[in-house]
Amino acid sequence: MKFPNNFRNTCTSFVIIIVLLDLSHFTSSVEIDSLIELPQSGFTRNRTPRKEGFVLHVTAYGAVGDGLHDDTEAFRKAWKVACYSSQRSTVIIPEGFTYLVQPMNFAKCRAEVTLRILGAIIAPKDPEVWLGLNPRKWLYFHGIKKLTLEGGGTINGMGEIWWARSCKTNKTMPCHHAPTVTLYFLEIDVVFAIFRLAEQSCCRLLFFTAPAESPNTDGIHISASSDVKVIDSNIITGDDCISIVSNSSKVVITGLFCGPGHGISIGSLGKQHEWAEVDDVMVDGAYLSNTQNGVRIKTWQGGAGYVTRVTFRNVRMENVANPIIIDQYYCDSPKPCKNQTSAVHVGKISFVGIKGTSASEEAIRFACSDSSPCQGLYLKDIQLISYTGITTAFCWQAQGSSSGFVYPSPCFPTSKSMIKQKPTFNALHYSS
Ligand SMILES: *[C@@H]1O[C@H](CO)[C@@H](O)[C@H](O)[C@H]1NC(C)=O
Ligand SMILES: *[C@@H]1O[C@H](CO)[C@@H](O)[C@H](O)[C@H]1NC(C)=O
Ligand SMILES: *[C@@H]1O[C@H](CO)[C@@H](O)[C@H](O)[C@H]1NC(C)=O
Repeated sequence: MKFPNNFRNTCTSFVIIIVLLDLSHFTSSVEIDSLIELPQSGFTRNRTPRKEGFVLHVTAYGAVGDGLHDDTEAFRKAWKVACYSSQRSTVIIPEGFTYLVQPMNFAKCRAEVTLRILGAIIAPKDPEVWLGLNPRKWLYFHGIKKLTLEGGGTINGMGEIWWARSCKTNKTMPCHHAPTVTLYFLEIDVVFAIFRLAEQSCCRLLFFTAPAESPNTDGIHISASSDVKVIDSNIITGDDCISIVSNSSKVVITGLFCGPGHGISIGSLGKQHEWAEVDDVMVDGAYLSNTQNGVRIKTWQGGAGYVTRVTFRNVRMENVANPIIIDQYYCDSPKPCKNQTSAVHVGKISFVGIKGTSASEEAIRFACSDSSPCQGLYLKDIQLISYTGITTAFCWQAQGSSSGFVYPSPCFPTSKSMIKQKPTFNALHYSS
């Protein structure tokens, strides 16, 4: 899938929450050594550079980049100059250096600005820096027109210290008896950047990493956003690499490397009878390695709204526990969830060109709602095998069709399904 060089005009607004931790895990994902052919689309990192306009280096504004010196003021100055420029400007964060940046607002920009992050931006190690500040706003972008983030550098939230001090990882540590949602924000999502962009903004993302054992650290969390493109990102995390929740539409994800992590997830949606809409999502070109899920849609019982027009295309999987999964009985609460008479409707979901290895025999699972069966599911060119060579598909209230070679064979009511069948292609080729 090709993107126009200037895709910014097609984007309107989005919110991305990024949790970024521990760079040391990064190398493991780059050393991808597999017989599985990597997806081609979206992986070209050398795009034609767009016009830079006025170019500023943060180092010219006093940034030191030794990882110790506080570079916040230098970033602030460079940002201000860029924003008040009468022409398009590019702020360069040079490669080979580490910039310590305190919580900072990137706001109110008159000019069209590109932040080219080539080096590493790190958050203060000490969680106390956030006392009295909103930890959800480390690097906080808002009210900006036409912002581009690019560069392939790193943003590192230094999250390990937070996790070590959180009841999520150490039961003896305090959880603060706050409402659940607040607790979630305080305890879990403390270290990340929010990119909250106004009209006609878009981005190209960088490398994001979080330790595999970190709880609820979504790599990129897209919420209530439309016209979002996530291009060429490399995510290692303890939760979803990318999650898309209500109310989001027109989301394109391409060139994603994910793992370890929980894969790509739409949802969860419809918790506590919530109305949720997710419409028009395209995942084209992803490589998922050692993830808990591959491509997933999860909804709670009792919700309302819909998920529709979603395509997962050109995805390579390696040792993925649940490669293709729709779960309309999602339940993440300590008590079992009761079945209800409503659900977020799931329809028009396509899975095309999904290949590789499954860590379990059940490579496809469509567990749809009794009250609102899945409709318009479509499978094409699927080759998912387990280490035994055999995989199966499970359908419950799932209606759909398939074409091309599909293994495991689809289980839609119309097709002869649920028969364990040896794959006809060379299974050895896919094992590693
Ligand atoms: C949990 O926190 C307590 C109190 O700070 C500490 O003594 C203990 O070593 C921690 N446990 C782990 C597993 O880190
Ligand atoms: C999604 O949109 C619906 C309808 O506009 C609204 O009721 C709901 O609160 C929204 N949910 C979220 C999480 O934004
Ligand atoms: C909910 O419905 C599903 C599908 O009909 C069924 O398998 C499951 O046991 C039910 N769960 C509860 C808690 O009733």
